[in-house]
Amino acid sequence: MKKKALITGVTGQDGSYLSEFLLEKGYDVHGLIRRSSVDFRQRIAHLEGNPNFHLHYGDLTDSSGLIAVIGEVRPDEIYNLAAQSHVQVSFDSPEYTADTDAVGVLRILEAVRVTGQKDNCRIYQASTSELYGKVEEVPQNEETPFHPYSPYAVAKQYGYWIVKEYRDAYGMFACNGILFNHESERRGETFVTRKITLAASRIAQGKQDKLYLGNMSSLRDWGYAKDYVECMWLILQNEKPDDFVIATGVQHSVREFAQLAFKYAGIDLEFTGEGADEKGIDKASGRVLVEVNPDFYRPTDVVNLLGDPAKAKRILGWNPQKTSFDELVHLMVEHDMRQVAQERASEHVTFNLEEYLERGVKK
Ligand code: NAP
Ligand code: GDD
Repeated sequence: MKKKALITGVTGQDGSYLSEFLLEKGYDVHGLIRRSSVDFRQRIAHLEGNPNFHLHYGDLTDSSGLIAVIGEVRPDEIYNLAAQSHVQVSFDSPEYTADTDAVGVLRILEAVRVTGQKDNCRIYQASTSELYGKVEEVPQNEETPFHPYSPYAVAKQYGYWIVKEYRDAYGMFACNGILFNHESERRGETFVTRKITLAASRIAQGKQDKLYLGNMSSLRDWGYAKDYVECMWLILQNEKPDDFVIATGVQHSVREFAQLAFKYAGIDLEFTGEGADEKGIDKASGRVLVEVNPDFYRPTDVVNLLGDPAKAKRILGWNPQKTSFDELVHLMVEHDMRQVAQERASEHVTFNLEEYLERGVKK
């Protein structure tokens, strides 16, 4: 019998990679999608039509719909990836964020329980390094105390604890993956890494003049999303339900990310000044290409994330350094250089992509 998986957040970055991963493993994959007036499913468009890939309408804020889908599919595994996942947006929509990212997790657990599947459905919860927030130690591991520092993180903390509670109270196989930032060519365009790789590509091809950023000194442990979805699956294959930190164990600043991204787009950037006066200058032309816009500062910002993936390495046999930081930045820039070249072609602006790939994006 084929294993059945239900993925919430299937249209997101991680949902799309996890779908591909599970289909390749021979799973029957069911995805939960929200109804929208426009069809916005580009990350999974290539999977639609696959006989083992099925979509169901539902929303994490609607328990009756979740009970219906979970009762009908009767999945062996649920990957709860759906969330309002943008930290800055959580300051603008805190109540919606709590409804989806906190109570939404409870709705999934309850749907499993009330449909009589508590003993045969394994549940993965997309927890986050944002839980460490205003960090109490560096690096962070499974024992590090949480100090959430945004409405998003506070909501996710409820999700984390309710998963543990259902594990203890009802013996459910429910687990948290505490994932540090993971990026890819499918990353949403308002997260800092993709914002940078797209801007570097547009600036290199004359489509944009400048990139405005917020706190460039913020430190992150950035990994590749494709590597991280494997770990979600490994967590549910473990012999007992448990929680794991998933990270690379390597840390860089937003500034370093930008410098490398511009380098792969063929531009050598030099940073001068401090705080809101800091600027990224093209060494060759002297043009200012990166500036700070304090509008991108957050009311409270998480600035020192570095994960210790030792437990995942030891127990799950997961390799945290499969894709290096350098390779990650390179693959994102290469993707965006191609994407922007296509956009330019449709605007009848010719750009010699191959030459650029040779001397710019090339490592
Ligand atoms: P993402 O690209 O923003 O995708 C979020 C997904 O959730 C989308 O499919 C979205 O659907 C769906 N969604 C949002 N609100 C929903 C609701 N009320 N009901 C049903 N679906 C809803 O996020 P991601 O980067 O793939 O992250 C996946 C999960 O991991 C999230 O829970 C995130 O908080 C968590 N996480 C991410 C990272 C990271 O670095 N990427 C790190 C730690 C934890 P639409 O397409 O309809 O908007
Ligand atoms: N988005 C954004 N835009 N962030 C900026 C900018 C900017 O222009 N300039 C500086 N930053 C800084 C932010 O202040 C933050 O410290 C850091 O860059 C990373 O921001 P994001 O890329 O938006 O990601 P995040 O770390 O806040 O949240 C992501 O990772 C979490 C895991 O740690 C999201 O994927 C969350 O869903 C996830 O839980």
